[in-house]
Amino acid sequence: MINIALLGAGRIGKMHAEIINAHPKARLQFVYDVNSNSSKQVSEENNSEVVSSAEEAINSEKVDALLIASATPTHTKFITMGAKAKKAIFCEKPIDLDIDKVNECMSNIKGIDTPLQIGFNRRFDNSHAKVQQARTNKEIGELEMIIISSRDPAPPGLDYLNAAGGFFRDTTIHDFDLSRFILGEDPIVQVSAFGDNLFDENVKKAEDFDTAMFILKSKKGVFIHINNSRRAVYGYDQRVEVFGSKGMVISNNQTPSSVESFTESSTSSKEPILNFFIERYVQAYKDQFNHFIECIVNNKKPSVTFEDGRNALIIANAAYESHKLKKTIDINYE
Ligand SMILES: NC(=O)c1ccc[n+]([C@@H]2O[C@H](COP(=O)([O-])OP(=O)(O)OC[C@H]3O[C@@H](n4cnc5c(N)ncnc54)[C@H](O)[C@@H]3O)[C@@H](O)[C@H]2O)c1
Repeated sequence: MINIALLGAGRIGKMHAEIINAHPKARLQFVYDVNSNSSKQVSEENNSEVVSSAEEAINSEKVDALLIASATPTHTKFITMGAKAKKAIFCEKPIDLDIDKVNECMSNIKGIDTPLQIGFNRRFDNSHAKVQQARTNKEIGELEMIIISSRDPAPPGLDYLNAAGGFFRDTTIHDFDLSRFILGEDPIVQVSAFGDNLFDENVKKAEDFDTAMFILKSKKGVFIHINNSRRAVYGYDQRVEVFGSKGMVISNNQTPSSVESFTESSTSSKEPILNFFIERYVQAYKDQFNHFIECIVNNKKPSVTFEDGRNALIIANAAYESHKLKKTIDINYE
């Protein structure tokens, strides 16, 4: 049994707690959150113990692995502490919003050989993975374009916006990573980014964007288009398309069932698409955790690495630079 300490028992931490205990080879040992009500509630609901500090959880001999789901600015500190304590680590995206902190963490953990996986869950979505396979097995011939539409159902509140650290680094980072996943060894080398505030007052107050579009280009010449919105009245819109010399493959939105109704006023009418990330990506969240446990048990390196987290942040930073300077930016991964 792999005993896990959960650091951060907020929105996504609660979901991870349930996934951990549902896994036949894992058990939630400890929960720590600076908000003691959250840790108490999540530990009670998941038959685990509350600890009074992150240090206590990380250094406990009862703990084999950490699941870091706390606020983003805490991630690099917890990764460093966990790696030094030789624990396996699963850390939510993004590693941090500040590339200097990410680089410092990278040098602090250099040479420490412990499984470390970053939470880019969309790579584990069965449908998105089929799109990626269409590139690797050449079903679509030579890849020419990737098109990702990624739109949230409704904008978050001001507190979230102030803490999250900006649309490109907190949200689009998933799409930058998904593009990298589809491209494989072919790196993204250029980005042109547009972001604006078209409709949401809280987003305006936070000086953030609610709407964004990106054109990126890979070294081999593949074009990538990403579009994001913080509001889609019809639900959580998650579509991925690859287009190539022999065709196109699309990962489409999903509805709770395959039922379609036909009436006087509509044909092929379906239920609304799955509402938000926890519903839409439940299979992916479970499978990324399965992968983490398999890596620990078999002493393998996880497929989503610290470097993947760092590279996605570097693309997000270049996108901000592009927006600011109103020009296409060459991406430097050094
Ligand atoms: N992969 C995904 O799809 C996905 C989805 C949502 C959030 N996330 C990421 O997960 C992380 C948490 O997001 P969330 O939406 O659950 O936020 P949240 O605000 O709901 O939860 C964060 C929790 O961290 C706690 N916390 C803050 N500082 C702490 C510390 N020093 N030690 C322990 N706990 C601390 C807070 O009290 C809070 O309970 C963020 O990095 C976010 O980007 C990933």
